[in-house]
Amino acid sequence: MKTVLITGANRGLGLGFTRHYLKQGARVFASARDLTSIDAFEELSSTHGERFTAILLDAALESSIKEAASKLKGVRFDLVLNNAGVCPDEAFGTWKADTFATAFAVNATGPALISQAMAPLLNPGATLVNISSGLGSCGANLSPETGLDAYGASKTALNLITRRLATKLATKKITVVAISPGWVQTRMGGEQADLTVGESIAAVTATIEDLGLERSGSFLTRSGDSIPW
Ligand SMILES: NC(=O)c1ccc[n+]([C@@H]2O[C@H](COP(=O)([O-])OP(=O)(O)OC[C@H]3O[C@@H](n4cnc5c(N)ncnc54)[C@H](OP(=O)(O)O)[C@@H]3O)[C@@H](O)[C@H]2O)c1
Repeated sequence: MKTVLITGANRGLGLGFTRHYLKQGARVFASARDLTSIDAFEELSSTHGERFTAILLDAALESSIKEAASKLKGVRFDLVLNNAGVCPDEAFGTWKADTFATAFAVNATGPALISQAMAPLLNPGATLVNISSGLGSCGANLSPETGLDAYGASKTALNLITRRLATKLATKKITVVAISPGWVQTRMGGEQADLTVGESIAAVTATIEDLGLERSGSFLTRSGDSIPW
């Protein structure tokens, strides 16, 4: 049985990944920064019993990451999905240090520290996926007129962390990739987005299924095509 850890699993894509891997028969550790009153978690726990475990993990807090890793120390993972993210939208002219700090804390530093904390818990041959965004591509430089600057920059940082982790974890035969899920109808993506959660999850999980070590360190679309750095 595959064992999977998903961050930001209480809603949006994270909840979509959680439902997908439970349906596939995996054992899923679903983390959220606040475990009180998550209806979806109660439903998943009663449907899937011991295959579903809720874990407290705030991606912006180093102490919370360490505590989660210590609770999980007997578990060995085949797949870790760094999915939790925030997307501030702040027009140039009103940029604030706090906004950049929060975006980097959740979207880049958090996944870096989570990967470090979980690395000893990864089975040889495991996969580590950082959910990135096309807005993190310097080459594509999407929508530079918008206020998604702190967000894009934090995902660029996440992409570099992905590449560096791919080298660090290669000796354990762990594949590390950054994947952009597309523009998806979640609270972050909004109702007008191109894709439903189901469509994005189906594509991203099929891409993850096809990954091998030879693709470690790449930045991919949901369909597995390379995105320019
Ligand atoms: N939707 C899109 O169009 C799109 C496009 C490109 C990339 N992405 C990426 O896909 C991932 C999932 O996004 P989404 O669309 O599902 O967004 P979402 O619906 O806004 O969900 C974001 C998730 O991240 C969690 N989160 C935020 N801050 C956290 C923290 N400090 N610690 C732990 N969890 C935290 C949220 O938990 P709370 O409920 O506690 O806030 C929520 O579970 C993100 O990394 C995002 O950047 C999304």
